[in-house]
Amino acid sequence: MLTPKFRAQPSTGSKKHAHAFVFFLDDTCALTPSLRTLDSAHSGLIARALAASEFEGKTGQSLVIVGTKDAASHVVLIGLGSTKNVKEITLEDAAGHAVSALNAHKIHSAELVVELSSAIKLKPAAAAAHAAFGAKLKTYRFGKYKTKEKPKDKPTLHTLEVVVRETDGAKKIATTLLDVADAIGFTRDIVSEPGNVIHPESLAELCKGLAKHGLKVEVLGEAQMKKLGMGSLLGVGQGSVKESKLVILQWSGGKKGDKPVALVGKGVTFDTGGISIKPAGGMEEMKFDMAGSAAVIGTLYTLAVRKAKVNAVGVVGLVENMPDGNAQRPGDIVTSMSGQTIEVLNTDAEGRLVLADALWYTQSRFKPKAMVDLATLTGAILVALGSKRAGLFSNDDKVAESLARAGEEVGEIMWRLPLGEDYDGMINTDVADMKNISDGREAGSITAAQFLQRFVNDVPWAHLDIAGSAWCKKPLATVPAGATAYGVRLLDRWIANVYEG
Ligand code: BES
Ligand code: MN
Ligand code: ZN
Repeated sequence: MLTPKFRAQPSTGSKKHAHAFVFFLDDTCALTPSLRTLDSAHSGLIARALAASEFEGKTGQSLVIVGTKDAASHVVLIGLGSTKNVKEITLEDAAGHAVSALNAHKIHSAELVVELSSAIKLKPAAAAAHAAFGAKLKTYRFGKYKTKEKPKDKPTLHTLEVVVRETDGAKKIATTLLDVADAIGFTRDIVSEPGNVIHPESLAELCKGLAKHGLKVEVLGEAQMKKLGMGSLLGVGQGSVKESKLVILQWSGGKKGDKPVALVGKGVTFDTGGISIKPAGGMEEMKFDMAGSAAVIGTLYTLAVRKAKVNAVGVVGLVENMPDGNAQRPGDIVTSMSGQTIEVLNTDAEGRLVLADALWYTQSRFKPKAMVDLATLTGAILVALGSKRAGLFSNDDKVAESLARAGEEVGEIMWRLPLGEDYDGMINTDVADMKNISDGREAGSITAAQFLQRFVNDVPWAHLDIAGSAWCKKPLATVPAGATAYGVRLLDRWIANVYEG
């Protein structure tokens, strides 16, 4: 990822200028002061190009003007939309669009000029910092395995400066944000890595490495989990040659003795479906089935780098769901750590089996103030909500509402779905306390959430089904196509809003 720098004045007119200058324009399309100066230096070229174009300053719009007299320079205009709607996220997204436009035009260096009309509430320093954050996020790339790529096929942009008069203020805000971007890059990396590289053992090792940021990291292996009675989680991993792991990450930045907020993640490093095996076509996508755990790990990383004033714990259940001679069979009955028994009717409904023990362990050991789990849990959530919004389920309106609000602020949005006794009844079975699938295809994401709720012991809890939002096939404003790291920005902001006040 490219880390932008800051400068107080654009280099326009100087001998060593950038290849391109980016300006943000709201939907009045009024030229900002430096744009006006540039326009007069070019006898009105910019105003003429703007008038002749379709550009209306709406969000997502861009206009690239070539032929300005500074050799090789381009002027790029990026829409901000209506001044009354401009927020931090607007600048992040606009800067992300700028990065796309710059790379599309093979530009090597650029300056993003942040000059906002007085109708915009956002402070210039914050606006600039968030522009830098959005730009950095958009320059993420998972390119490590492309060994034969020609330079001309790689993104060209290698120098980016954000221009704002208040450079000191902007730098101060940006320091944390740019660190958060690193945590997001780390999260995207581990989600993108294939199953032969990221498996329970290697992911647990990576977690250990986060101790250098001040996190306390504990790793439980199969013997320890067996002692704790985690028959539900262990059943999922028993067909794999890799040892299942439970990783506990703790950040203690809050008051001593203050109960933590807990995050729990599904970490199925590869989901073949097990004996209830998935069809071959598209199975490779299931390398991302640990995205919930990656979001938890990435959030704890974020809390540590920004020294958040909170006590937080992240628990991730890491398993590989494989079919082999030792694999769990459909019909097997397992006993979870909670003591409740589960009839495993479909070995492909494995995420809930992993979370059952991870959730129970978390609430019983830490007595958290609130507990949020993230999981690529059901294909049905994609059918219901598509790939932008996560499914939100909760037993607590305050938790649900604060999560949804944080999501709106950072652009990681969700939609709440119901829980209820009628759905809960759908996972009852004659031979055990519950079964891991319901009978038909109805309400598949809800019955999965109901299953989880049986393991939260009335702790204020929310479940985010991120099977759709963890991966994007098409790029988003600040996310190149691929792993989105959905959850990191959201949980970081949620914790800041609710627990660090
Ligand atoms: N990891 C999958 C969920 C998934 C499916 C994520 C498609 C992204 C895209 C999960 O383990 C799974 O296989 N769920 C089953 C549940 C079913 C057997 C009740 C599903 O959704 O089909
Ligand atoms: Mn599955
Ligand atoms: Zn799965």
